[in-house]
Amino acid sequence: MVATPIKIEKRLTISTAEIATNTTTIRSLDWDRDRFDIEFGLQNGTTYNSYIIQGEKLALVDTSHEKFRQLYLDTLKGLINPADIAYLVVSHTEPDHSGLVKDILQLAPHATVLASKVAIQFLENLIHLPFNRQIVKTGDKIDLGNGHVLEFLNAPNLHWPDTILTFDHATQIIYTCDVFGMHYCSDSNFDDNLKAIEPDYRFYYECLMGPNSRSVLAALKRMDALPEVKMVANGHGPILLHNVNELISRYRQWSEEQSKGEQNVVVAYVSDYGWCDRLSQSVAKGITKTGVAVEMVDIKSADTQEVRELVQHSTGIVMGMPPLSNQEISANISTILASVNEKQFVGMYESYGGDDEPIDTLLTKFLELGLTKGFPPIKVKDTPNETTYQLCEEAGVDLGQLITQSQKVKKRKSLDSELDKAIGRISGGLYIITAQKGDIKGAMLASWVAQASFDPPGFTVAVAKDRAIESLMQVNDSFVLNILEENNYQPLMKHFLKRFPPGADRFAGIDIQTANNGSPILTESLAYLECEVVSRMECSDHWIVYSRITNGRVANPDGLTAVHHRKVGNYY
Ligand code: FEO
Repeated sequence: MVATPIKIEKRLTISTAEIATNTTTIRSLDWDRDRFDIEFGLQNGTTYNSYIIQGEKLALVDTSHEKFRQLYLDTLKGLINPADIAYLVVSHTEPDHSGLVKDILQLAPHATVLASKVAIQFLENLIHLPFNRQIVKTGDKIDLGNGHVLEFLNAPNLHWPDTILTFDHATQIIYTCDVFGMHYCSDSNFDDNLKAIEPDYRFYYECLMGPNSRSVLAALKRMDALPEVKMVANGHGPILLHNVNELISRYRQWSEEQSKGEQNVVVAYVSDYGWCDRLSQSVAKGITKTGVAVEMVDIKSADTQEVRELVQHSTGIVMGMPPLSNQEISANISTILASVNEKQFVGMYESYGGDDEPIDTLLTKFLELGLTKGFPPIKVKDTPNETTYQLCEEAGVDLGQLITQSQKVKKRKSLDSELDKAIGRISGGLYIITAQKGDIKGAMLASWVAQASFDPPGFTVAVAKDRAIESLMQVNDSFVLNILEENNYQPLMKHFLKRFPPGADRFAGIDIQTANNGSPILTESLAYLECEVVSRMECSDHWIVYSRITNGRVANPDGLTAVHHRKVGNYY
């Protein structure tokens, strides 16, 4: 009998609610979405939140993803006459919020789009229609009547250069789109269950906002000048009502921690060119994983003085290759070249815009000025995919590790005390974790592994935050724990302790088989366990990953597990 493939319909629903006087939300609930952006695995789906503010004039804040076209437009028409929309606030132009901007402008041809300068440029390329527009910046206000005075704040790099926040003085609601959001879909419109949402709130911050922590602090400073914020009408997840101060203050605390390091890297890019945005975000995420702060700068819109100061005070610079002979940016490139010094590190990647400057020429100039190469130049030859983004992230990690290396060695020396010797007596086995997700493969030598439950069988492993494989070990991901054998672990250990360049195949020359869960099994190991990540706990510089064991085999029933003995406890 031939089995009929089961087509699983993804659940898309809409919820609407009056959240304050004259203020209604339309929330598009995407229950089953499991991927987002740069390797961003989702456990709890997501939502795309849009808002109607009804003063004497009517404003719509953001729209929805195009997959909700029919549902969203029908719902909107049930609430208002779209032709009455006087203003369409576009907080940010990624398609999950702006996917229906063109549809709205067709229904409301007289509406004026309110957005940042960068967002208007993006929109022109996106919708190819003439439209009324008004560029807004920090401090600008629009009066809708009935007390609804909208005040705008620029929030560049949270997480795109185009982002604005909008504060309504009547309701004291701030509309923040991606900022203070989370990928969490539930029937509840508000944050009434803090415990349930906080892991997703944290994970979202880490993926999208952490790499831009200094920009987050700058935006929070602008928000401090506003009257009290009573509600955060975000673009993803439950709206913040019950925990406004707590959840805003977490952004402050995390961003301060993230940016307090003395070392920082400037990631210079051209926001509306090629795939510069996404590639830059991936490199930035990798750098941030190592504890080095990142400063994103759009070299097309930043002023020369700002660029000079940022570059002069940085430890490193990463550049996405800009388009050839573009006068708008050539001044800033000259400024960068004139501001760097020989103590700095440099990294470069192609933006795949089709008209990139030759990558080697500019890199050579930096190297001639005495800078150290942070990672081999990344040459993107095709439309970037998950592997490209992973490669960029690994390059960022390499650069960050290079920067922090000398500091770590110094710290190790200064801590070589009796306490460290005592901690060093904690022993562990020797293991290699292997994982594969799509085309991306990873491997890591591990020793901090401990069984943690009988039923279901489970164990924990500690993974340093700057390990590339960490992004393949999110909740629901699967991997293999390869257990190494006493007297037979040296070749594997030596191989996986090697430093691999970004994107290198870690399994070249190693015998592997494929496990049921798709990850590689090392044939030379004593035993292997197939595992699925259940939960993660953040512990300072490591993640403790608890996983359920789904399958396993021993290759040599008489073999013993290799044991890792250490002298001191302040490194592995
Ligand atoms: Fe939710 Fe950056 O879009």
